[in-house]
Amino acid sequence: MSHFLDINGTDAGDLRAMIDQARSMKEARAGRPRGAPDDAQPLVGRMVALIFEKPSTRTRISFDVGVRQMGGQTMVLSGQDMQLGHGETIADTARVLSRYVDLIMIRTFEEATLHEMAEHATVPVINGLTNRTHPCQIMADILTYEEHRGPIRGRKVVWSGDGNNVCASFIHAAGQFGFDFTFTGPPTLDPEAVFVAEARARGVTVEIDRDPLRAVAGADLVVTDTWVSMHDPQSARERRHNQLRPYQVTERLMAAAKPDALFMHCLPAHREDEATSAVMDGPHSVIFDEAENRLHAQKAILRWCLGV
Ligand code: CP
Ligand code: NVA
Repeated sequence: MSHFLDINGTDAGDLRAMIDQARSMKEARAGRPRGAPDDAQPLVGRMVALIFEKPSTRTRISFDVGVRQMGGQTMVLSGQDMQLGHGETIADTARVLSRYVDLIMIRTFEEATLHEMAEHATVPVINGLTNRTHPCQIMADILTYEEHRGPIRGRKVVWSGDGNNVCASFIHAAGQFGFDFTFTGPPTLDPEAVFVAEARARGVTVEIDRDPLRAVAGADLVVTDTWVSMHDPQSARERRHNQLRPYQVTERLMAAAKPDALFMHCLPAHREDEATSAVMDGPHSVIFDEAENRLHAQKAILRWCLGV
């Protein structure tokens, strides 16, 4: 049994194997109805708990559908509806859930909650987003890039905007999958220095460039995300918008990247804030492929966790 907590904490060979398996599982069910079972049913008899302490559309539905396609069953739980949201400890919740279910996926606030769950659970735990990281999203993004453009190794990825949880997992992936990464955004919203240093130590180039037009030169992929994340106080909204406006992804910015550069956004998007609709719906955009690939990538993650 293995936990899937972070991309930087997972073996690089295992990450590669998960992407490759996700791709072959996706190809194997091409053209089938979404509800049709996969030929292989590795999750028959398995029960998966999906716990959400924050809202979700993609993570909730893609995990639910993916488990069912592989023959398993799910229960989707809101943290507030559980004793977890009313004072029962994470450790006790983990011990109890481990008596009922075969795997726990949790979306939570503090990363410490995720780690406490993993420490005390006797079943695998998957990180469905914390304030600090979002590894399942970036596994889907790697799959998406490679479907469109081939191996991501050696490519240049540019993040424009807030150096948030999704950005952090992208930096983890740079080190593990071997691509270069440039962050462009205001200094107060830089990604964590420890993640930048760790990726550099793995031999890739990670740069910070305050000039977005210069940063995207030579980019194979331009990525952004919301300017105000679920854990950010709404009181910070106006300040963030003012700081981040120069980093909006526009057609002009995309034109400064390589001609065949892709555009990604994990969604949900605030159109005309972090990216214009002209970019989101334009020729570079693969945002809905990313959303679909949450399903396929997570199916491979689930199999890896359970060893099936
Ligand atoms: N990208 C993503 O995690 O979306 P949800 O918040 O809808 O799950
Ligand atoms: N950075 C965003 C990602 C949502 C999927 C958030 O944490 O709200």
